[in-house]
Amino acid sequence: MDHRMRVIAALISFMVISSPVYAFIPGADGPVIAEEALEGGNATLYCDTSTDILNDELMLQVWYKDDVPIYSYDARISSQWSSSSFNSSGRLLSDLRRQPTVLTVTNLRGDDQALYHCRVDYLLGPTRNVGINLTVIVLPSQPFFLDEVGNKVEGKIGPYHEGDTLLLSCLVIGGRPPPRISWYSGEELVDASDGASDIPGVKENELYLPLTRDNAESLSCRANNTPRVPPVKATLKIELFLSAYNVTINWVRGTVEDALSAGRTAVVQCVVHGSYPQPELTWWLDHRHLTQHSNQSWNNATRKAQSFLELTPAVSDNGATLACVATNTAMAPGRDSKADVIVLNVTYSPIVELSKLGDGRLNEVVELDSLHLECEVRANPPVENFIWYFNDIEIRPHSLWGSQVSSQSLLVEEATRRHAGRYSCAARNSIGETRSESININVFYPPECMDHGITLVKESLKCNVKALPAPDTFFWHIQPTDEDVQHLTTGSAILPLTQITGSLSRNLDASCEAGNGIASQEKPCKRTFSFELLRPPQPQQCDLAYEYEEFQMRCLPVENATYYEVSVWRMSNSNSSLMLERRGSMGYGMSQALAQGEGVPWLVRGPLGNLRAEDEVGASACNRYGCSGSLLLRPTEILLNSAGVPWWKYLVGKDVGISIGAVVLLAVFILSSVLLIRVARRVRSKPAPVIQVLQLDEVAREYLDNLGEHKVHASCSLRSCSSGYSDGSGETAPTIDRRRKPRLWEWDAPPPDVTLTLHRESAV
Ligand SMILES: *[C@@H]1O[C@H](CO)[C@@H](O)[C@H](O)[C@H]1NC(C)=O
Ligand SMILES: *[C@@H]1O[C@H](CO)[C@@H](O)[C@H](O)[C@H]1NC(C)=O
Ligand SMILES: *[C@@H]1O[C@H](CO)[C@@H](O)[C@H](O)[C@H]1NC(C)=O
Ligand SMILES: *[C@@H]1O[C@H](CO)[C@@H](O)[C@H](O)[C@H]1NC(C)=O
Ligand SMILES: *[C@@H]1O[C@H](CO)[C@@H](O)[C@H](O)[C@H]1NC(C)=O
Ligand SMILES: *[C@@H]1O[C@H](CO)[C@@H](O)[C@H](O)[C@H]1NC(C)=O
Ligand SMILES: *[C@@H]1O[C@H](CO)[C@@H](O)[C@H](O)[C@H]1NC(C)=O
Ligand SMILES: *[C@@H]1O[C@H](CO)[C@@H](O)[C@H](O)[C@H]1NC(C)=O
Ligand SMILES: *[C@@H]1O[C@H](CO)[C@@H](O)[C@H](O)[C@H]1NC(C)=O
Repeated sequence: MDHRMRVIAALISFMVISSPVYAFIPGADGPVIAEEALEGGNATLYCDTSTDILNDELMLQVWYKDDVPIYSYDARISSQWSSSSFNSSGRLLSDLRRQPTVLTVTNLRGDDQALYHCRVDYLLGPTRNVGINLTVIVLPSQPFFLDEVGNKVEGKIGPYHEGDTLLLSCLVIGGRPPPRISWYSGEELVDASDGASDIPGVKENELYLPLTRDNAESLSCRANNTPRVPPVKATLKIELFLSAYNVTINWVRGTVEDALSAGRTAVVQCVVHGSYPQPELTWWLDHRHLTQHSNQSWNNATRKAQSFLELTPAVSDNGATLACVATNTAMAPGRDSKADVIVLNVTYSPIVELSKLGDGRLNEVVELDSLHLECEVRANPPVENFIWYFNDIEIRPHSLWGSQVSSQSLLVEEATRRHAGRYSCAARNSIGETRSESININVFYPPECMDHGITLVKESLKCNVKALPAPDTFFWHIQPTDEDVQHLTTGSAILPLTQITGSLSRNLDASCEAGNGIASQEKPCKRTFSFELLRPPQPQQCDLAYEYEEFQMRCLPVENATYYEVSVWRMSNSNSSLMLERRGSMGYGMSQALAQGEGVPWLVRGPLGNLRAEDEVGASACNRYGCSGSLLLRPTEILLNSAGVPWWKYLVGKDVGISIGAVVLLAVFILSSVLLIRVARRVRSKPAPVIQVLQLDEVAREYLDNLGEHKVHASCSLRSCSSGYSDGSGETAPTIDRRRKPRLWEWDAPPPDVTLTLHRESAV
């Protein structure tokens, strides 16, 4: 800029300043446009300098602030001027090329608020004036906080508990126009009740806010006096102790559609949102505190806590509640915790137990009663089907058990014995199949006769019945032939014949009826018995002797005999049959005659009186069941002869005396000597008492063989004689020639405790 220009400018300035001051009257001098601008911002002032009239020319343009010129442009010399006080920091900019022309005031200050106007002078046309009412908005200060007692609060306040009332003032200084102060929670207006403060130029809004989880989250104070810019804002962090907002239990692994398997470990997670400070997470299974297997993590920023639990559920845990409890230890008890509870769905293979329904004991059923078995089962998920087993074989439909054999119960309307056996049931669900322990079902039934009903076992009657349970009582009706009925009751199936009074030597009608508490026996068992087989055996080892002036029958005792009988049979005169002459009993004595051995055997001995030739002598052994057939013996001639009356007996009683006797004796001596010589020629040893032995067993035979040579005659064989003696036509057995030494017989009474049942072995 050259010197000349500076001079012109100074001249214009002088001209403008010194030109007569006249005030701009809004409306009258020209229109007024309202304009707003922010402190520190720019204000753009427009002024139209275009000409209205043809050939007119712009002469001068001047901007005034409250009627004081601040800028001018002299078109005649194209010279601009600005007030140095207003354009102090070079903040005034002009743009004359645009139309309307623009004068920009940058970096506005509060005192720039004024009524500006632009005056335009033309060569021809009239002067034009445009007013601009500039309002400079001054923003208020940053809000700040004071607590109830007037202390300044910065950044953070608290801690509070939920529901506590927050009392806090928000203050701002300055601002034109005066600002409005509002409290916001997030974007929600919570308090707009601002007002003036005691301090001039300060405005405040006192907040009275019951704190909740939501409104304490992001609390802010906003001050605003223009819509041109966002409000000035200050935020405050409120430390608020909060219980958990929500607690959620989730399965992490080890489940299928949220269902657990018994015995299989699963991991469950508990997520807790919204607690402050860090909550304590505890696990409870049906009110049982699970102390182990849980770990806990906490994210301060997201306020998310989580805990993991390893859980191995048992069958009994099905339906149990699993709870995750989040407890905020910073808070008062009662409002400190929140929980999520889930019900466990523990799936397992069925647990099966078999039981019998209805009356009676567990495993018993009475024939024709119903049999109702129930498969008691616990299963999750529910059982799909049941299978029944009988003696470990699967029961098929349409069998002994009907068609309903795959349901939970097995029902037999009328049980039979074929239904007795071992039962079990199996149940299956999607997890598996389980079979119950088996139970044995007994089918009870009343006694029934079997195996001929009654049998004779040794010396007892046995009632043969089948029954379940085994009979405990037996009722007997016993009737020996021609005698009264005898009623007996026994506790076992055995009735010893000793309990029967009356004779057993003839037939016996027996009937028995058993009772087992189930039902009475439908038909008693009946049978007729004869006890011939129990009679003692026929004596087999007997001989005839002539002792003590009479004939004697001597026998070795036989087993099971209680007494013995002898009989003498004589040939009838009229017809040729043997008739019973007499009968007698036999006594006991000691014998060394018929047997040998360490012990001296007992003999039975029966006196027979006199016998004739042709007579037959019988010996039979007897007991209560009757007598054996008689063993028949016939006296030998020798025996008969030796039993003849000795001739010297006639002489003893007479006085004829010794002389005759001597003569006779001499004669006899001679005769006998001759006889003896004869006999001695035939028989080497001297004669001995004649003994007849029949039916020798090996031992006795050997014994007798050793005795020497005796003449022994058997009158009959065992076969013919054992059949009895009624016909008397006993076949004569071949004569056995036997010799034996004479013995001295000594008879004694048997010892008092002698056993009548003598065993063969002991006799030898
Ligand atoms: C004011 O105008 C100046 C110059 O044109 C410019 O640089 C500045 O950015 C403007 N300020 C505002 C707030 O518009
Ligand atoms: C204001 O002053 C600056 C420098 O001081 C100058 O460059 C500018 O042109 C002036 N503004 C006007 C409109 O004259
Ligand atoms: C200018 O605006 C203010 C408010 O900003 C107002 O009070 C005043 O009356 C206005 N002046 C004129 C001349 O319109
Ligand atoms: C629990 O609360 C948090 C935060 O409030 C939320 O993100 C989440 O979805 C909620 N969960 C449930 C299950 O409601
Ligand atoms: C348990 O889980 C099983 C298998 O997912 C399902 O079939 C059954 O319905 C569930 N029970 C309950 C009570 O939810
Ligand atoms: C907690 O336990 C789970 C499973 O046992 C595991 O995945 C997780 O990493 C554990 N978290 C911490 C913090 O130890
Ligand atoms: C939690 O985070 C906040 C900031 O988000 C921090 O001020 C505070 O100290 C943290 N607390 C803990 C216990 O880490
Ligand atoms: C004697 O009686 C018993 C028991 O009754 C029997 O076992 C035995 O066979 C009988 N003896 C004879 C020889 O009959
Ligand atoms: C034989 O005679 C006797 C009478 O001496 C008589 O009792 C018996 O019946 C007769 N027997 C026969 C077979 O005739």
